[in-house]
Amino acid sequence: MNSIAAVANPNIALIKYWGKRDEVLHLPMTTSLSLTLREFPTTTTVEPRPELTADRVTLAGAPASEAFTGRVARFLDLVRAGSGDRRYAMVDTANTVPTGAGLASSAAGFAALALAAATAYGLDLDPRALSRLARRGSGSAARSVFGGFVVWWRGEGVGAAGDLSSFAEPIDVPPMDAALVVALVDTREKAVPSREAMRRTVSTSPFYPPWVAESARHLDRMRAALRAGDLATVGEIAEANALGMHATMLGARPAVRYLAAGTLAVLDRVQELRAAGIGAWATMDAGPNVKVLCDSRDSAAVAAAVAEVVGAAERIVIATSGPGAVICGNGHR
Ligand code: DP6
Repeated sequence: MNSIAAVANPNIALIKYWGKRDEVLHLPMTTSLSLTLREFPTTTTVEPRPELTADRVTLAGAPASEAFTGRVARFLDLVRAGSGDRRYAMVDTANTVPTGAGLASSAAGFAALALAAATAYGLDLDPRALSRLARRGSGSAARSVFGGFVVWWRGEGVGAAGDLSSFAEPIDVPPMDAALVVALVDTREKAVPSREAMRRTVSTSPFYPPWVAESARHLDRMRAALRAGDLATVGEIAEANALGMHATMLGARPAVRYLAAGTLAVLDRVQELRAAGIGAWATMDAGPNVKVLCDSRDSAAVAAAVAEVVGAAERIVIATSGPGAVICGNGHR
C-alpha cells in the first residue's frame, strides 16, 4: 500500500496576497510575505487505489461535501497529469484549527495535500516545484510548504512563464522571537468568500492599483527590517498593508467589508497597548478576526489586554513560528 501522510501548518500573511492576474493558475498580482505557525497542523493522507472509480474524500473520517471533494479531485487531476498514474485516491484530511479561528484557510490543507499526493503518486518535486503545485490548490498554500518567514514571489508573465516564476521560498533571517496573538471576534462563516471578494476588488476598486504599488514598497522595507531584526518596523508595515488591503475592499462595488465592530474594538486596544509602550501590531484577513504581532515576551500581556475586549480567554490563541510541510509516515488505513 502506498498510503502517504503529510502534515502542514497555517500561515499568516504580514504582506497580503489579494488579487490574481490568472484565475486558473492562481498567479498573484503582488508578492506576499508570511509567517508559518507552529499551531494547528493539518494532516492529510493520500492513498491511490486501482479499484476506485472516483476520488473519495473524508474530513477526519467523515465524508466531505461535494464541493470540497470536487476541489480535491481537481487538484489530484493535476498530480495525475504530471505523474501519468491514473488511479483515483482515498484522501483524508484532519485539521486541528478551532472552527472559524480565521486560521482555517486552505493554506495548511493544500500544502499537506500537495506533499502527500506528490509523494504518493511518485512525483519527484523540489521544494520550489512543490510550492508551485500547492499554489494551484489555494494561493496561500504555496507559503505553508515552508516554515518561519516565507516570501511568495508574484513571478512575471502569465501562462507557463507565470507558473514557473511564481513560487514561495523561506527567507533567511536572524531568529526573531515573534508571536501572533489571535483574537476571535466572530467565528461565523464569512458572507463573501475570499475568492469572490478578491475578484471584485481587482475589477472594481479604484483603490486597488495604489495598494499594489504600495505593497511592492512594503515588501522591500519589510525584508530589510527582517534582516535587521527590527520587529517594530515589521509590525508597522504589516498593519499598514492589512489596513490598505481592507481599504481596497471598501472601495469595491458592491463593497466588501470583513471588519466588524469587534474588530475595531481590538484595533483600538492594540493602539492603547502601543501608547503604553508595548509593541503590538494588528493584521486581518478575509474575516473579522485580528492577529496581533508582538514579541513573544509580550504575548501574555497582549493576550490579556485583547481578551478583555473580545470577552473571553477562550477567544484568544497565542501562536508562534513553526515548520513547513513534512511527510509524517504512512497513513492509518
Ligand atoms: C486574505 O489563498 O485562500 O488570507 O488562492 O483564491 O484560494 P485562493 O485564496 P487564499 O487567499 C488568502 C487571502 C488572505 C491573504 C493572504 O493569506 O495572503
